[in-house]
Amino acid sequence: MADELYSPTPEFSQRAVVSSRAAYDRLYRAALDHPEEFWGDLARQELHWFQPFNKVLDWQPPFAKWFLGGRTNAAYNCLDRHLSGARKNKAAIIWEGENFEQRVLTYQDLFRRVSKLANVLKRLGYKTGDRAIIYMPMVPEAAVAMLACARLGIIHSVVFGGFSSEALKTRIDDLNANLVLTADAGQRRGREIPLKRNMDAALAECPGVRHSIVYRHKGAEIAMREGRDHWWHDLMFGAPEDCPAEALDSEHPLYVLYTSGTTGKPKGVVHTTAGYLLQTHMTMQWVFDLREEDTYWCTADIGWVTGHSYIVYGPLSMGATTLMYEGAPDWPEPDRFWRLIEKYRVNVFYTSPTAIRSFIRLGDQWPNKHDLGSLRLLGSVGEPINPAAWKWYHQVIGKDRCPIVDTWWQTETGAIMISPMPGAVATKPGSATLPLPGIVPDVVDLRGEPVPAGQQGYLVIRRPWPAMFRTLYGDDERYRQTYWTKIPDVYFTGDAARRDADGYYWVLGRVDDVINVSGHRLSTMEVESAMVRHAAVAEAAAVGRPHDLKGQALVVFATCKGGVPKSPELVEELRQWIGHEIGGFARPDEIRLVEALPKTRSGKIMRRLLRELVTADKISGDTTTLEDYSVLLKLSAEGKEEEEILEQKAKNTRS
Ligand code: WTA
Repeated sequence: MADELYSPTPEFSQRAVVSSRAAYDRLYRAALDHPEEFWGDLARQELHWFQPFNKVLDWQPPFAKWFLGGRTNAAYNCLDRHLSGARKNKAAIIWEGENFEQRVLTYQDLFRRVSKLANVLKRLGYKTGDRAIIYMPMVPEAAVAMLACARLGIIHSVVFGGFSSEALKTRIDDLNANLVLTADAGQRRGREIPLKRNMDAALAECPGVRHSIVYRHKGAEIAMREGRDHWWHDLMFGAPEDCPAEALDSEHPLYVLYTSGTTGKPKGVVHTTAGYLLQTHMTMQWVFDLREEDTYWCTADIGWVTGHSYIVYGPLSMGATTLMYEGAPDWPEPDRFWRLIEKYRVNVFYTSPTAIRSFIRLGDQWPNKHDLGSLRLLGSVGEPINPAAWKWYHQVIGKDRCPIVDTWWQTETGAIMISPMPGAVATKPGSATLPLPGIVPDVVDLRGEPVPAGQQGYLVIRRPWPAMFRTLYGDDERYRQTYWTKIPDVYFTGDAARRDADGYYWVLGRVDDVINVSGHRLSTMEVESAMVRHAAVAEAAAVGRPHDLKGQALVVFATCKGGVPKSPELVEELRQWIGHEIGGFARPDEIRLVEALPKTRSGKIMRRLLRELVTADKISGDTTTLEDYSVLLKLSAEGKEEEEILEQKAKNTRS
């Protein structure tokens, strides 16, 4: 059966930045044939340069440098350059809190706050090359903090507010950070999130942090440590507003963002200045088809890469009005998102498949209560979107009028890589469609050979791109090993995909030990290391199980140290423990305490079998390397499966 095809309406295409398939093809071809000219021209046109670059790309695989010799500044591009024209008093950030508080910051307001904070940082002795952790709720000050760092060339690392103090500490240590910006507390579903308290716990073991700056958001009771902790408002009071942006090298690191990898230790993904900014800026036009008068809303948290690229740097570089909401989608009622869209007349809306699926479950009556007529374009990110959810989004939210851009990208890629240009490319529900100009993906086997159309393979990127991460913080070797050696000569994404006969990409999900829970990347190894840090646990294996709502749910198998009773209380304690070690969002859906874990003869835990066990509750495939088959029989939830397993085993032995 042919895939369903949704073509953009002529009205949409006519006004779009890229308005026909032919125009897309031309752009793609130009970038393919002359990549350096293509990106060089865009960089000159679209960014402000204190000093022009003299070379577009230096590619010493796997290390890239873009726009060499150039000097620019991300904060300058996001703020200063908008102040001389009509955008001066345009809303840059519209913020709404969970309790319906509202604030609007114009470009001028934002500029003033960023400049003042940058002066505050200078006065505390911080300068280009220092490293700051930003551990804040979804308030405009989080963006102010990022931009103030960017203004001075202080490398920032935003830690998602849902991470625990343990996770925060690991990141402070790895980055060797000497500054933390935080708030007294955040809020979600009416509950306060004790950010400052978490920071205190982390800093007890991080003597390198000289100062912390605390934004008063909720008026929560907190303790301030003399000499180290400062109130944001005290420091800002009277701080001078004039703080020129540093002319930074194109390759100056803008930020480090930690993401889950395939080992227990999170990876510090390093993004630099000019290339990152150019590609986030361009994708705002190519993918979100941004217009000057738009109200744009990306529902991600600022602690993830989507928040970096598509709440802060991309939209502000474009001079857009971006909506920021602190709080839960279903608070106080399940229509909060639709209420926000109606209230602020949102035109472009960007959210995750998990959110969409939970809205489907809540029922159409909630969106139907609201006027969603302002919407023009819908976006999706973070996980594969199943066609049913895609169609619901298209119909119930977009009223069959709004194209959907299913955007595939990663923390590592920095910006959207595969996505329809909404006025140019017809969409198929469930496919991220075609690569953007300058992006050369492929679907290959382990030797790097392209697989035929329609077949599953590994998604790779063949050429460097401006927003690509440059390395893992302090670990060039891990960067090389993780991404560039598994498949020769290309960037390996960790995703499986297939490309259909029309060249459309269908991203199928991770093939490594990373699982995607509600669009949050979690490393099974990270969860396992956290589990075995608990005194009762001997061994642990974490796997993902398909989940209707979250995409995947986390299931952990664990064995206990001798004599520990396997009680429901212990299971609950272990769930809380993971919350403590990593963060609430990582708490497993299920923990199974078992006698033993299935292992190969060489002692490697066979996660594949466990994955199958939780998925289908039965085992198929090759089990010949399994050491003690009886283990698996005990793990299998239902005794009646045993027969099947034995049959399977017999088959394997025969063959
Ligand atoms: C998955 C989020 C299918 C994928 C921007 C990728 C997707 C990982 C899509 C990166 C999509 C993201 N379709 N899968 N449109 N977008 N993914 O680093 O597995 O948090 O490798 O970046 O999410 O997650 P990350």
